[in-house]
Amino acid sequence: MATSVQLESNSMQSPTSVDGQPPRFVYVQTFGCQMNVNDTDRIHQVLAPYNYTPTTDPAQANLILLNTCSVRDRAEHKMMSRLGRLAPLKEFNDDLILGVAGCVAQQEGEKLLAKVPYLDLVFGPDHVAKLPVLLDRVRGSEGRVSETKFFKRKDYAFLEAEPRDDVKVSEFVTIMKGCDKVCAFCIVPFTRGREVSKSPEMIIREVKKLVAGGAREITLLGQNVNSYGKDISAKGDRVPTFAQLLRDVDAIEGVERLRFTTSHPMDCIDDLIACFGDVPSLCEFFHLPVQSGSNEILEAMRRFYTRASYLARVENLRRQCPDIALSTDIIVGFPGETEAQFQDTLSLLAEVRYDSIFAFKYSERPGTRAAKMGDTVPEPEKKRRLAEVLELQAGITRAKMEAYVGQELEILVEGPSKKSSAGGEGRFQIMGRTRSNLIVNVPVPLGEFWSNRWIGRLAKVRVLEAKSNSLFGEFV
Ligand code: 5AD
Ligand code: SF4
Repeated sequence: MATSVQLESNSMQSPTSVDGQPPRFVYVQTFGCQMNVNDTDRIHQVLAPYNYTPTTDPAQANLILLNTCSVRDRAEHKMMSRLGRLAPLKEFNDDLILGVAGCVAQQEGEKLLAKVPYLDLVFGPDHVAKLPVLLDRVRGSEGRVSETKFFKRKDYAFLEAEPRDDVKVSEFVTIMKGCDKVCAFCIVPFTRGREVSKSPEMIIREVKKLVAGGAREITLLGQNVNSYGKDISAKGDRVPTFAQLLRDVDAIEGVERLRFTTSHPMDCIDDLIACFGDVPSLCEFFHLPVQSGSNEILEAMRRFYTRASYLARVENLRRQCPDIALSTDIIVGFPGETEAQFQDTLSLLAEVRYDSIFAFKYSERPGTRAAKMGDTVPEPEKKRRLAEVLELQAGITRAKMEAYVGQELEILVEGPSKKSSAGGEGRFQIMGRTRSNLIVNVPVPLGEFWSNRWIGRLAKVRVLEAKSNSLFGEFV
């Protein structure tokens, strides 16, 4: 199926057409969050009409892009060392363009070009749509290019996903970019800019196309999806609230399952909570980052909720939907975090009993408010706190997983399990997810494993065993 690109706002010069030229290869490596993964998809989408085929071999590539998140410093370090290892390829291939995309590119811009002499291109997430133009500029007289300006709201071009032949069972649809919150530790407002929402018409069209291509599960994606549409309504235009958008997407035929990520607890208001158990395809799963259990730290983080108001939201959610699975993000070692404040985080985890968590050591990000507070908790102490958090949660997760043994659950089959490629006894297993986002691996007969007939199906499984991060079951 041909891929074409449609821009919501089309104010760009058109790049040189490469019709009739031999195919080129692009290697994109992604470091970081789902937003970056989504940007990588957009990169492939925008390059496809210019004869670029994705490759997994950097030595074959005419274009290498490292697309990197900068929320924590780890991804950034990984990207820099990868860049160093890729540099020698430039010596053997004069045609090769080496570029850095994503949040790190946005954050560093020209500085990155100055620091890395063999780098040709640096561009922020707003510039993905005009990547072919940037490549022409690199090949032309400019040689080295950095583009990190944010588009003004009215000019911002979202790429509309067009039919692809590799649509997965579970697909992400970006509904907005940027974040207007001011969390002291977070670099996202600097790297992704202010909130800009995609038009509801475009979202609905994208979902319909993905469903027509075989998707069964849609995850609406944004840094703070609960704020969806506020930038549009501020201009006086009519736009659904996020809760209404969920209902509109749910109404699309073929959407079996609906999810969203991520939400700020402050904006998790009653009309959204009411959707759980009420919007049929909306899965009973909510990722609601708390970051800390200490009121003092939450205030220093500028999260604008308290432990008590967060817990009240959790209670409301559980009242509305008793089976809801909850996950969260935790930061340990925020500047000034005392042992007692850290203990507040542990006690919150014990109180909420999340199904799963993501926990991080605080990492100082340039330009943020928290960076002015110093990085006061020593690294070994951060490590210890992180280990304690993970140990406490491991016990909770284990107990929750074991409670599923013997139960019948519905899974949406996504494909072969990870274990299937490792061979051995897990060789002919397929994997699916429950509505609560748990992975279940299920063995199938050899012939059926290769037939792919399970992929995209909703199926009932009986859970036989709980592993540390997944369940093992059989079809009922
Ligand atoms: N240090 C550590 N963790 C961070 N996060 C965001 N910024 C930082 C930082 N500077 C975490 C938060 C957020 C998740 C996506 O990443 O927990 O919710
Ligand atoms: Fe960062 Fe806070 Fe926005 Fe989340 S809500 S992206 S943590 S600024």
